[in-house]
Amino acid sequence: MMPLAQMAEAVLRTADGREKTALSRKLAAEWKAARADGHTPEIGTADPPMHPARPAQPELLSPREVPRRRPGSPQGRIALLHAVAHIELNAVDLHWDIIARFTHIPMPMGFYDDWVKAADEESKHFNLMCDCLEELDSHYGALPAHAGMWRAAEDTAQDFMGRLAVVPMVLEARGLDVTPGMIDIFRTAKLDSAVAALETIYAEEVAHVAYGSKWFHFLCGRDNLDPKDAFHTLVQRYFHSPLKPPFNEEKRAEAGLPPDLYWPLAVAD
Ligand SMILES: [Fe+2]
Ligand SMILES: [Fe+2]
Repeated sequence: MMPLAQMAEAVLRTADGREKTALSRKLAAEWKAARADGHTPEIGTADPPMHPARPAQPELLSPREVPRRRPGSPQGRIALLHAVAHIELNAVDLHWDIIARFTHIPMPMGFYDDWVKAADEESKHFNLMCDCLEELDSHYGALPAHAGMWRAAEDTAQDFMGRLAVVPMVLEARGLDVTPGMIDIFRTAKLDSAVAALETIYAEEVAHVAYGSKWFHFLCGRDNLDPKDAFHTLVQRYFHSPLKPPFNEEKRAEAGLPPDLYWPLAVAD
């Protein structure tokens, strides 16, 4: 079996979305099988690209240029699914990137188990969103998408704790806040497969936020840092806007994020 960091790099260097996620799922299955057999596979090292390979479509636009969508219309619903597909493809790369980029920092095997599992689930989520788009006679790449998604990865490329703070504990936690409203939109439109897909995503994302919180707290313990202070400092350093309420306090708590961790960041300076 290839060292894990090299598996991660192979996914990051695959451009097509369906191919990237197929490779991601295949390698995650290999990892899982090796771990279930009691092996301790090699992590190794890799040279992850600063920007992962991506398909020629969708065209990436700055947030201001991405056309506004009205979620009540069929085109608006397609745009919403397309935006989620784009987020999921970025999430696939983000999880493999955290595996490949920080191998110089020794971590327990459980850290790698968690992010391989998260990357596998994001791959499934991307495919679910693509299936829903195709059911509506569209596809991933048919619309422009947000160019800023990889910014968090670039900003935290040198800061492991910053990466954990911003990606799972801010961005993926935000997903917990907004997904129930999206599910309602598709339920109202009676699009059952989109409802089911988003419910799967919603259920599985709680664990991704929890992995972030778990490993962030692990590192704070190892480095003798106060988790709340460290989180506030890192989010202010790397995330360039205040956090946006309303928060899904119940799901955030389930994922290990207490209100006093994020509420102080919700107010602009
Ligand atoms: Fe996801
Ligand atoms: Fe996720």
